[in-house]
Amino acid sequence: MSNIQVNLSKTRADMEKVGITDNIRLAEDDSHIIIIDQVKLPSVLEYKKIEDLESAYQAIKKLEIRGAPAIGIFAGYAMFMLAKKDEDLPFEEYCEHFRQNKEYLYSSRPTAVNLGWALKRMERVVEENKDKSVKEINDLLKKEAIAIHNEDIEMCLKICEYGLSLLKDGDGVLTHCNAGPLATSYGTAQGPFLLAKARGMNIRVFADETRPLLQGARLTSFELSRAGVDVTLICDNMASIVMKNGWINACFVGCDRIAANGDFANKIGTSGVAILAKHYGIPVYSLGPTSTIDMDCPDGDHIKIELRDPEEIKNMWYERPMAPAEVKCYNPSFDVTDHELLSGIVTEKGIVYPPFDVNLKKLFDEEN
Ligand code: MRU
Repeated sequence: MSNIQVNLSKTRADMEKVGITDNIRLAEDDSHIIIIDQVKLPSVLEYKKIEDLESAYQAIKKLEIRGAPAIGIFAGYAMFMLAKKDEDLPFEEYCEHFRQNKEYLYSSRPTAVNLGWALKRMERVVEENKDKSVKEINDLLKKEAIAIHNEDIEMCLKICEYGLSLLKDGDGVLTHCNAGPLATSYGTAQGPFLLAKARGMNIRVFADETRPLLQGARLTSFELSRAGVDVTLICDNMASIVMKNGWINACFVGCDRIAANGDFANKIGTSGVAILAKHYGIPVYSLGPTSTIDMDCPDGDHIKIELRDPEEIKNMWYERPMAPAEVKCYNPSFDVTDHELLSGIVTEKGIVYPPFDVNLKKLFDEEN
């Protein structure tokens, strides 16, 4: 594993120079959460109020808020906001509502580990403080939600530094989907490009458009181009030609769940990128916080893959249908990249190299 010293306030100041989007915020009176509605980007930058359980569930389901860490942060705030609305209920009823809210939000999306991870953290607060009043428990829930958010900020800043340490001025990097500040506080897979820009380095980024929901086209190219990063948008099926042209020195991708052996789920198309990269001898790095590593999941075969509505392939984003209405579609939202295709996992604790089963275990053993 490789470690470097990170001066968090310097990294943060540098990242602020290129402008970071404020993707999730709790209202001052705790009555609602404000998110950027990511479905409307890039044509409209609109903030949306989330005030109840159903709109919180739909925000995750419809990808108004998306990206594994952002879903976790949002879930923390949502559990607090909902608990706050129940502050006058008798304790038993308060707990029952809390459990129902948690279960419902958990059912919104299955693949990203951060959702369940954040919900469990919030639940633990209630379980460990049953001797306190509902008001006191709610104060602790608010603290926990803010802690989840602040930890994400710190993790992102470290990941940006570690990621940047793998690049040199003038490098070309291919990225897939969106793992920038919209998806997590300061970005994981795309954070190092922003940090490079802030420090006067030139990294040429090739962003896959990421069919069918176009996170690369709509979000990554939006975030990077507004920060002045040299970004070129390509269709997913163009990854191989830019690699063959010799324009790519590394691939940086995010992750939604990393299994104990290093297999990892990320946006559909990631494993194809890694297979092509292997052919062209290009290193592939997955960047994500240790909260995305699921040591209870032995390998990629145990990761549940979300299947989404065929309409996303056939009609969404188009003025008229682009496929016959009756055609069958298969629309998995994620795929699993085999750990053998992966050069390293960039976490806030350093870069983990193969053998991943041994080194991920070490990482967690050192923590305890
Ligand atoms: O379906 P999405 O848009 O939530 O998928 C997002 C990804 O696959 C990201 O790469 C991943 O969540 C990491 S975000 C820091």
